[in-house]
Amino acid sequence: ESPLIIAIDGPSGSGKSSVSKAVASRLGVGYLDTGAMYRALTWWCLDQGVDLADEAAVVAAAQTLPLELSTDPDDQRVGVGGSDVTVDIRTTEISSQVSRVATNTGVRPILQQAQRDRMAAIATATGGVVAEGRDITTVVAPDALVRILLTASEEARLRRRSAEVHGTADEEAMAATRDQVLRRDRDDSSVSQFTVAADGVVTVDTSDLGFDESVEAVLAVVASRV
Ligand code: C5P
Repeated sequence: ESPLIIAIDGPSGSGKSSVSKAVASRLGVGYLDTGAMYRALTWWCLDQGVDLADEAAVVAAAQTLPLELSTDPDDQRVGVGGSDVTVDIRTTEISSQVSRVATNTGVRPILQQAQRDRMAAIATATGGVVAEGRDITTVVAPDALVRILLTASEEARLRRRSAEVHGTADEEAMAATRDQVLRRDRDDSSVSQFTVAADGVVTVDTSDLGFDESVEAVLAVVASRV
């Protein structure tokens, strides 16, 4: 029986991470958060005093990144060289710097290959994998059995991000979130085309869906493919 490989791409605030984890959990397969890999590399470069503008130095860091990622969707832990950075990689500082690492053209093939290797290992161990990011459906795993683009309107994405980061979606929090989210979308736009579905990729728009409904919508796409 061929492993259940599910690739999910989308912009921040689409619900991508929480929905992907819930889908992996429901299906009893492992999970890979590729954004966490770019974030961990960014954290490590800053920790080691690597200048993010020094492209060769960042590539060297990518080649030797001592990354530990749990594959359990219900217990996501990220470690770098023995330090638990699960929380540290989600700070605004990392969020505002990560695109500089992700747009480094020497870094991408290294992390993409590491992602393919991890997906294969997870699929072998658990019978499948849900991998999420920006270029999984197009570059990392274009042959995946299920490929989904999770989208949401800009308004819905900002509202969710605001609630997540600030605990509220009032006007002030929304304004602060808007700058951050739109800037990162713009910085990431050269990474890959993650707002329009590539050929054969199914779009799931979560703008008007609650969390459970989004999970069900993705599971319905999976069911239609297996
Ligand atoms: O998904 P998340 O917001 O954690 O991703 C963090 C950053 O990692 C993105 O803003 C993007 O710069 C980069 N990324 C990427 N390719 C992926 C996943 C994430 O370039 N497949």
